Amino acid sequence: MNQKRYSGVAMLLHWTIAIAVIANWRIADSAEGLPDAERAAVMANHMALGIVILVLTLARLAWRIAKKPPPFAASVKPWEARLAHITHVVFYALLIGLPLGGWLATSFYGRGIGMWGLFAVPALPVAADENLGHSIFEAHATAGTAMLALIVLHTLGALKHTLVDRDGNLFRMLPFGTSKV
Ligand code: HEM
Ligand code: HEM
Repeated sequence: MNQKRYSGVAMLLHWTIAIAVIANWRIADSAEGLPDAERAAVMANHMALGIVILVLTLARLAWRIAKKPPPFAASVKPWEARLAHITHVVFYALLIGLPLGGWLATSFYGRGIGMWGLFAVPALPVAADENLGHSIFEAHATAGTAMLALIVLHTLGALKHTLVDRDGNLFRMLPFGTSKV
């Protein structure tokens, strides 16, 4: 019961997903303003990577249910623990909702998602409705941008605990260093 850090699998998934999410935001952003054909080629990468993130997130949630996360350092105040908890719940909702919404929107255009030529994720069984697909994509872009604000909050929190409180909370998500539990 003296577990001080996340398991290796949880860490690997956390950092892989974090890098993939930031890369996927950069990919979507770099497609802005490109001519249609080039934009579609860039966005194909965004869509495929989004599906990978969905699968990794489901694996991560399953792992989390099986293996309880370590407690916060004792110095973490109740409001901080609460804010961190809310942030994590919203992260999980976005990590599932963003790719699912993207997949649903693509399906309303009657298209599946190509996985870099390896295989295709089929369209969900919905009747074609491009207007609805368009609206879902707009909501998706807004939610994706909101997620960036949350990433900033989450990262500032991690830095504050490391540099100001010096409670080692960050090391719970790293394979080295010590947390003051
Ligand atoms: C966790 C996975 C995903 C994240 C974090 C994410 C994030 C984002 C972000 C931040 C934007 C806005 C970019 C900008 O305005 O600069 C965006 C746009 C977009 N995403 Fe995703 N996305 C994900 C998955 C997907 C998937 C699976 C699809 C499609 C199957 C998709 C399709 C799109 C499209 C078409 C846009 C452009 C929307 C528009 O400009 O109206 N995304 N995404
Ligand atoms: C796209 C970027 C990121 C996402 C989506 C993300 C998501 C998450 C989620 C969902 C958890 C909760 C884990 C659980 O289930 O208990 C978590 C925990 C954690 N994350 Fe991140 N993270 C990101 C980036 C970062 C960065 C850049 C840092 C450090 C600078 C960081 C540090 C931590 C730490 C220390 C924890 C442990 C729990 C805590 O103390 O609050 N994360 N992250």
